[in-house]
Amino acid sequence: MKVTVVGAGAVGASCAEYIAIKDFASEVVLLDIKEGYAEGKAMDLMQTASLNGFDTKIVGSTNDYSKTAESDICVITSGIPRKPGMTREELIGINAGIVKSVSASLIEHSPNTIIIVVSNPMDTMTYLVHKTTGLPKNRIIGMGGALDSARFKYRLAEALEAPISDVDGMVIGGHSDKGMVPLTRLATRNSVPVSKFISDERLNQVKEDTKVGGATLTKLLGTSAWYAPGAAVSGLVQAIACDQRKMFPCSTLLEGEYGLNDLCIGVPVLLGRNGIEKIVEIELTDAEQEHMKESADGVQKTNGLLDV
Ligand code: LAC
Repeated sequence: MKVTVVGAGAVGASCAEYIAIKDFASEVVLLDIKEGYAEGKAMDLMQTASLNGFDTKIVGSTNDYSKTAESDICVITSGIPRKPGMTREELIGINAGIVKSVSASLIEHSPNTIIIVVSNPMDTMTYLVHKTTGLPKNRIIGMGGALDSARFKYRLAEALEAPISDVDGMVIGGHSDKGMVPLTRLATRNSVPVSKFISDERLNQVKEDTKVGGATLTKLLGTSAWYAPGAAVSGLVQAIACDQRKMFPCSTLLEGEYGLNDLCIGVPVLLGRNGIEKIVEIELTDAEQEHMKESADGVQKTNGLLDV
């Protein structure tokens, strides 16, 4: 199993690190345009191998896509991250050009690859890859919901004063401050609805804190987060590599599911060897469906800025 991660910035390097530590891939290629940068990060990470106990080989490359040839999975993290006060949507101008050329170069060397898009605005970048590469839709996956759900669980555990492993919850919709739809109704502590433990008001606060999870970190860090994004990507890569058929909310092309068409947005999917094995349609309440519709309108508005 060969995995390429494009972009050796904090998110890309953290993806490579978590993938390597989980030790299911034979090789991870880290590629960046900055001379020597990916090679340096790859060497540093390789020097953690004996300490962390993994055998995954990590190779760095300065923009030499021939090193990525025959990758089973390619992760695109390249582009500029947001600065405090910026929305993900404001990154579209620069990142669209980068994502378009990166995906074309990747597919030239790995025509059978599955692509995971992390660059923001992620749902729109996923749609761009769909529009410009001609890859089948099961092989184009946007990473947002897995991260947003992890942030949701963190906030739920905080509110419930519970260990994180006790709580479960999922965020669907667009990967944006306004577009996320945390499904509080379905969130549980050991199968018991969380509404049994906290007030509606507190649960609403959890929801709002989840939606601005990325923005909160950007304000604290001065740039966007990397540990949780990297860990979330590694979970998706592992589910595909190990054919787990695990369920994650991911951005995928919808063709009528959830009453939506011709956009990529986060919904639960099963991930296995073929990428998106199945889109899972869960029954939403009218209010949740309305939030999904508003979220989709926002994504479509950003898609409208694309030159495709
Ligand atoms: C975040 C970026 C990865 O939410 O979108 O941290």
